[in-house]
Amino acid sequence: MISSSLDLISLAFAGEIPKWINGSLYRNGPGKFKQGGEVCSHLFDGMSAIHHFSLQDGCVQYQNTLLNSDAFRMNEAARRLICPGFAAVSYPDPCKSIFSRYFSYFTSKPPNDNCSVNLMQLGDQFYAMTETNTVRKIDPKTLETPGKVDMTAILSMHMATAHPLVDVNGDTYNMGTRFGKDTSYVIMKVPPPEPGCAEPLENRQLVCSVPAHRPSYPSYFHSFGMTENYIILVEQPLVTNVFKLLARRFINFTYKDTLNFHPEERVRIHLVNKSTGERLTQSYTTDAFFLFHHLNSYEEDNCVVFDVVAYPNADIIEDLMMENIRTEKVSLGNLPQLTRLVLPLNTPADVGVGENIVNLAGSTATAAKESDGNIHCVPQRFSDCCIELPRWNEKFNGKKYKFAYAVTYKEYLLKDLKLSKVNVDTGEMKVWGEDDYLAGEPVFIPSPNAVEEDDGVILSPLVSVREDKPCLLVILDAKTFTEIARARIPSWTPFTLHGIFAEGY
Ligand SMILES: [Fe+2]
Repeated sequence: MISSSLDLISLAFAGEIPKWINGSLYRNGPGKFKQGGEVCSHLFDGMSAIHHFSLQDGCVQYQNTLLNSDAFRMNEAARRLICPGFAAVSYPDPCKSIFSRYFSYFTSKPPNDNCSVNLMQLGDQFYAMTETNTVRKIDPKTLETPGKVDMTAILSMHMATAHPLVDVNGDTYNMGTRFGKDTSYVIMKVPPPEPGCAEPLENRQLVCSVPAHRPSYPSYFHSFGMTENYIILVEQPLVTNVFKLLARRFINFTYKDTLNFHPEERVRIHLVNKSTGERLTQSYTTDAFFLFHHLNSYEEDNCVVFDVVAYPNADIIEDLMMENIRTEKVSLGNLPQLTRLVLPLNTPADVGVGENIVNLAGSTATAAKESDGNIHCVPQRFSDCCIELPRWNEKFNGKKYKFAYAVTYKEYLLKDLKLSKVNVDTGEMKVWGEDDYLAGEPVFIPSPNAVEEDDGVILSPLVSVREDKPCLLVILDAKTFTEIARARIPSWTPFTLHGIFAEGY
């Protein structure tokens, strides 16, 4: 559990923090895992903690807080974990009478606003996000949460990713799932908000609705891809059992219990035209894998090129059970790889079945037409490039890019995490890290008047695994991938999942 400190405190640091960095790094992740005598069973169910590093005039200040969500307040009041989560069942509040408990079982709506995954900025509004239908608003100065937004009310979405993507024109895209008899994936966008707009999410627009291949077993997804003209929806074979999902109100299934991985099934890939909202009729597939995170995507030589962090299977979800983390009882060898897929946008009429129709310079990825017209893709896998939590220069969103920044490891996630700079064309990595630390998702900030893609710095929080070493915020030169400064955080801080840099805040 974090030591909450709402006052901005100045951090001691070594090295030189570039004076051109003027803004705030906000980080989100699970920060409290116990309530009363109970302990969360899965990493994803820890109560959200928000961390704020303010960088100005070559100095850095820090504050943090546990997100004051409805779920947090209910757990605190009940002194136990009563709210549902990723791998947590919902328990009735012991403070309620037996009758109100009975009826609340059928009527109450347990809060699912423990938004512990990521953050989003829309104009001058900030939000903490998870994968449910609820986002919590955040005050960027005080970290208080003045309210929440229920996306079900706006676009009838029951889940949405915590990985929105911002287009070069300022539109923010996200994707979610609408469960029902005809379960579908929903793509929406929010135009750049006017100055002073109090709630940009109210301007949300539906771009496209894509029916799930199996309506009762829709795919789980954590992120998506975006090129200049297309949204990329990867329907992977980790599926949600909608019947179990519905039964959660009556039987204590967790959300994790509703998920099943089917290695015998293919990944289905859908392309949606961003400007027309139309889904391409061409179907694409590839062999089964599991992913949390897309990297960047772009179009080249009449193809859609997109990179993902692909696992052979979905065992990572079980590996992140708290008991498995504690005992290191994890599935070794299930390492994710940088994986590139190339989807041809036009198929020559005379191409034969089984004939490769992708010939992208520098890539070994292939794609071939099948007898039913489907195009089956074989990705390029960079077997020595084990990465997670990838980021890139977001000025290159949807455009051809060369570099990603990520964490890398040799055995399993949450052990020996180091930072890596990846050449996404070759899989070559530069690695930076220190023993006894877990490096966090690196956030790239371009330098003013940047000319090259990697002109800028990397910010990453480092969690100490030894009591005698402080947690740190490190700043690396992105081009040379060498340290230029490190700031000491005076209290232990937990591992964070994702974060954003807000210029001028
Ligand atoms: Fe994520």
